[in-house]
Amino acid sequence: MNSSKPRYEVPTIVRNASGLMNKVGHRGSLESRTQIDGVDVDSLIKDFGSPLFVFSEGTLNRSIDEARLALEKHLPQSQLCWSYKTNYLGAICAIFHRSGSLAEVVSGMEYEKARRLGVPGNQIVFNGPAKSEAELQRAIQEGAIIHADHFEELRLIERIAQAARTRPKVGLRVALDAGIVPRWDRFGFSLESGVAEQAARFITDSPHIELGGLHTHIGTYIVDPRAYGRAATKLAEFAEYIEATLGCRPTHLDLGGGFASTNSLATQYQSGALVPRQEEYIREIGRALAQQRGAKLPVYLETGRALVDDCGTLVSTVLASKRLPTGRNSIVIDAGVNLLFTAWWYRLELQPCCPSDGFIEDTTVYGPLCMNIDCVRESVALPPLSAGDAVLIRPVGAYTFTQSMQFIHLRPACVLISESGDVELIRRKETLEDLIGPEIVPERLAIERARSNLSDHHDGLRDVRSGAVVQ
Ligand SMILES: Cc1ncc(COP(=O)(O)O)c(C=O)c1O
Repeated sequence: MNSSKPRYEVPTIVRNASGLMNKVGHRGSLESRTQIDGVDVDSLIKDFGSPLFVFSEGTLNRSIDEARLALEKHLPQSQLCWSYKTNYLGAICAIFHRSGSLAEVVSGMEYEKARRLGVPGNQIVFNGPAKSEAELQRAIQEGAIIHADHFEELRLIERIAQAARTRPKVGLRVALDAGIVPRWDRFGFSLESGVAEQAARFITDSPHIELGGLHTHIGTYIVDPRAYGRAATKLAEFAEYIEATLGCRPTHLDLGGGFASTNSLATQYQSGALVPRQEEYIREIGRALAQQRGAKLPVYLETGRALVDDCGTLVSTVLASKRLPTGRNSIVIDAGVNLLFTAWWYRLELQPCCPSDGFIEDTTVYGPLCMNIDCVRESVALPPLSAGDAVLIRPVGAYTFTQSMQFIHLRPACVLISESGDVELIRRKETLEDLIGPEIVPERLAIERARSNLSDHHDGLRDVRSGAVVQ
């Protein structure tokens, strides 16, 4: 055989993706980005490792300012509440609290987290469908703003209040039809079916509890701001109705969260960059409430993803690049669905850190888990990338960290880049201790007892039936 003859390689035909356009416009810039807020990505990886969550304080502050300005303009009697579950890293919550946000929590764990950060109980909005008796006792004692989700909870609160000889205010979560699909009706008391009115009567009839606010959270990633106008109108009319029929005025209206962030939903054709600004939602609420005749109630807003998503980036590194048998290009990176649970419903953007003038191809991006489901993007246009190249994944400020898990890999560090460009560690990289610390191995399973078996195995394999060592 002639050794100088080149080896045959199966040809690969790939669609030419030049032009970067699709039906709704540009497919996004593929320009590389070597810095985050003026800090070199290479130096971040060198100092803190890869993968790495990076949060930008500047971006977060601009987003909070945008919401605050819109509230001053359209809803002056209002209060921002920070939805903890969106991102409850202590430093992120602290930025919200410093800017005057209350804490909005949906579990005892989140409540405790807010208290440890120094938030007084009366500045915590306690929502959620699963509050335990002990958690409610504490919340009542500390004067938290409670929104009840179901009748069992109302009865429990009544019992606690009776025993404690206090008369706490209890708000109601109201499920209402704001004309959006899918309509959320599993949380709270339904307005249209009359259950919310029954719940309000339950409270006003009780000698042990008083009516607090009316809360609704119509859904999440709502792209039609007018839905908030409709929800605000319905909630305000319900408040007027309660006052007229039950003689009791609710203390506030709470319009929940749900404003869309600039992330793109996996099912959405257009880019998330085209979603309404926070002001458009707030303006609709302001307009709707301005048309109400009755007394104006203070408004609480529990915004989550719209405020924080943009400030988060996950730095990741390419481990390998592979041409799949179908001809499709793929890369394996060091961050998968263990860190990016949000990749299930978002089309997260990937941006290379190193300049490349190579041919742009639709690429599948896999994570490092030894699981077939570990796919970060089924198809994303990327230039050629090789092992060791860094990529930026964004936006990941909302839900990504709180929903991350320690599957096969421990969670990486989180850093905050301050307005002045300082890089501060806000959560260290996890160690094995963080994982095994809470574990208990029963004494009878202690490894010493198993050691004799293990050494047998080193000497040879055991016969499955007889148990004898096979040399
Ligand atoms: C009661 C409540 N308020 C606020 C939020 C924040 O929602 P979002 O992140 O969509 O703004 C949520 C999240 O689902 C929620 O359940």
